[in-house]
Amino acid sequence: MSEVSLQQTIGKGYVDFWRCRGRYRVIKGGRGSKKSVTAVLWHIYHMMKLPLANTLVIRKTFNTHKVSTFAQLKWATRRLGVDHLWQFKKSPLEATYKPTGQKILFRGLDDPMSITSITVDTGYLCGAWFEEAYQILNEDDFDKIDMSIRGELPEGYFKQLTLTFNPWNERHWLKQRFFDMPNPNTLALTTTFQCNEFLGDDDRELFEWMRKHKPKRYRVEGEGNWGLRKARSLRIGVRKNLNGEISPSCPITKLYLVWISVIPMTRVLLWLP
Ligand SMILES: Nc1ncnc2c1ncn2[C@@H]1O[C@H](COP(=O)(O)OP(=O)(O)OP(=O)(O)O)[C@@H](O)[C@H]1O
Ligand SMILES: [Mg+2]
Repeated sequence: MSEVSLQQTIGKGYVDFWRCRGRYRVIKGGRGSKKSVTAVLWHIYHMMKLPLANTLVIRKTFNTHKVSTFAQLKWATRRLGVDHLWQFKKSPLEATYKPTGQKILFRGLDDPMSITSITVDTGYLCGAWFEEAYQILNEDDFDKIDMSIRGELPEGYFKQLTLTFNPWNERHWLKQRFFDMPNPNTLALTTTFQCNEFLGDDDRELFEWMRKHKPKRYRVEGEGNWGLRKARSLRIGVRKNLNGEISPSCPITKLYLVWISVIPMTRVLLWLP
């Protein structure tokens, strides 16, 4: 592909992403801001440029790959006019660059063993793409995979972890780790639908409607800003005795439950005597 047509294929707004060679390349963005499409185009293009590079694609659950990352990477080979050079297999789920045997491997965090024991036939595992990284609630899960991308590489090669996600809540570890602490190894970007020239006018109208009528959603889905933490919810309950009555003589009526929203899907229980 010539450079000019590559530029047209990717469009605007992703120059830093495309050129980045740092270890962590992290994009938070609104809906439809080209995060996934640009990530798949980059990985196909660079694997063809670097004949020893293999890529790991991670999602929280393995069975979501087939209809997302796998299908999108296949689409990217067609978009770049190189689909005849790639083989996409569903069992096991993988993509192979036919001229060299380089592979794109797909894994889910729901099968941790499949992640720690990855070997490749040709070359090195030097890249990992975490799609919908917001779903990775446990930072340790990320760190384990980070550790698997290691070792010396030949000249011209680099190790890189790419993370793409919608920033639903500012309390997520991704914010503190990549956006609040400047690090020369990290490129942290925010993108919005405004840089997506491939959207139709009807799509843009949807965003405009959201801006007017659902400003909170628009903040995240339109502007790619961190969602605000939820207001603390406090619920106090009194335990009942075995007959379902609240009895002052029953010792456990003295126990109160306090629920505190910390981050989505996580609650802390405090027992107050
Ligand atoms: N380079 C491209 N060539 C053609 N179409 C594109 C390109 N980039 C984006 N698009 C179009 O824009 C749509 C949105 O892009 P994409 O799915 O990458 O956004 P996203 O930021 O990942 O959105 P979400 O937050 O919903 O996951 C795609 O479905 C596709 O139709
Ligand atoms: Mg996406």
